[in-house]
Amino acid sequence: MQQIKYLFFILLFAASTLAKAQDDTAVYHEQYRPQIHFSPKAHWMNDPNGMVYNEGVYHLFFQYYPGASVWGPMHWGHATSTNLVHWQEQPIALYPDSLGFIFSGSAVVDKNNTSGFGKGGKVPLVAIYTSHDTAGERAGRNDYENQSIAYSLDNGKTWTKYSGNPVVKNPGIRDFRDPKVSWNEAANKWIMTLATKDRITFFSSPDLKNWTKESEFGEKLGAHGGVWECPDLFPLDYNGQKVWVLIVNINPGGPNGGSATQYFTGNFDGHTFTPDDTTTKWLDYGPDEYAGITWSNTGERKIFLGWMSNWEYANVVPTEKWRSATTIPRELGIKKINNQFLVTSQPVKELNSITKPFTTLTNVKATDYTVASTTKLTTPYKLSLTTDAVKDFSITFSNKSGEQLVIGFDKATNQYYIDRTKAGESSFKQSFAAKTVAPRFAQKASIDLVLIIDAASVELFADSGLTTMTAIFFPEDLLNQIHVQSTGGVVLKSLQLSSMQSIWK
Ligand code: FRU
Repeated sequence: MQQIKYLFFILLFAASTLAKAQDDTAVYHEQYRPQIHFSPKAHWMNDPNGMVYNEGVYHLFFQYYPGASVWGPMHWGHATSTNLVHWQEQPIALYPDSLGFIFSGSAVVDKNNTSGFGKGGKVPLVAIYTSHDTAGERAGRNDYENQSIAYSLDNGKTWTKYSGNPVVKNPGIRDFRDPKVSWNEAANKWIMTLATKDRITFFSSPDLKNWTKESEFGEKLGAHGGVWECPDLFPLDYNGQKVWVLIVNINPGGPNGGSATQYFTGNFDGHTFTPDDTTTKWLDYGPDEYAGITWSNTGERKIFLGWMSNWEYANVVPTEKWRSATTIPRELGIKKINNQFLVTSQPVKELNSITKPFTTLTNVKATDYTVASTTKLTTPYKLSLTTDAVKDFSITFSNKSGEQLVIGFDKATNQYYIDRTKAGESSFKQSFAAKTVAPRFAQKASIDLVLIIDAASVELFADSGLTTMTAIFFPEDLLNQIHVQSTGGVVLKSLQLSSMQSIWK
């Protein structure tokens, strides 16, 4: 009898495991579902939040509405990864409370327990986020956004909100949000970089609970076609020189319409940010990278990730079960071109573990060349190439339904472009079917290009990441035909097509 009982439980367990596996497979393989990008199983997601690396785990929290696939009362959803490639969605981390919705913010490892939240030698993870009080907003108040904190003593599994919230009170500024906090050696304090309408306000704190205003930056600098949101502040190393990068997301007012990520380079002395140049620089020129910021606690590495959509149409894109994915994680670097610092973005090397060579070619005269026309190629994949010279070329990715995505370089304007006008469904928003462009900054005599194509997105990294573009699209079938054309007769010194394994298998 006992044995039969055991057998019954084993069978029940096996059946439920199988059902869960089948469920996951079904969930992550719908039409348009990204295969190498994180997206929530169901419902609405926007900005990445609280990205922090702790005890071998990369945490990715995100603006999440579990009630529908459109924006709504904001929670912090949660996903974890040990390799930046495979993600596991976790239970919701933070729920709305009496102070409001849980808007964007960051998380830090409080190694020295400055907050005093640590107990029994446990190092606290502290999340710093905006409490957005919709009742106050509706009542016409200006001070409905305030900064709050919460802590976790079990590496992000469970969170306790601080009883003294909010920790930074709003002085009467309607857009007062998205705190990004990091430890600053020069100040020997925590520094909060906060988006405050049309400028950034810096605050400092010894303990994450008590904050003092330090300075403001940017009122008349950079792009101001929309409200400033989701900032970040960190140093990058340029041949031993510390260059501070201040990221400022802006919506609308991006270079290709709607939401985008601009940045400034300069110096931060622990109190004030001083820019070293006042031109407007964009981290990603495509239409679909927004609210991007970096992971904290990753040492010298600066790993960036954005939301792969745009407020212009994010709520109406044709994925009804879930809405939006993140970009792939990108490693940031810095280069000097024409005496100007430019931030570079490249896919993190961890992605190599799922990238397998499919076709490798050398010295291809690319006047009119078909790279792949077989049905063996399936998305996602990566295409890398190097040209012999800086000449016009275009790459057409098409499918059996006759849809096409065209990506290329135009020498006359010195611009890269992504043309999604014929790349699939676009009736949800008139401006969606467009060709977007980005300047080429590199001065060397050949082009190198990396394209990462997933079921419904492309990410372009040109000239070792000096120009970056992200665009989403919604094709009927996967784009498995690749054709290169060049009126200038470019020679592709090398061309590598690699397939990428789904992270959900
Ligand atoms: C940016 C943003 C943030 C805000 C959040 C709300 O996309 O508007 O400024 O905190 O989204 O979901």
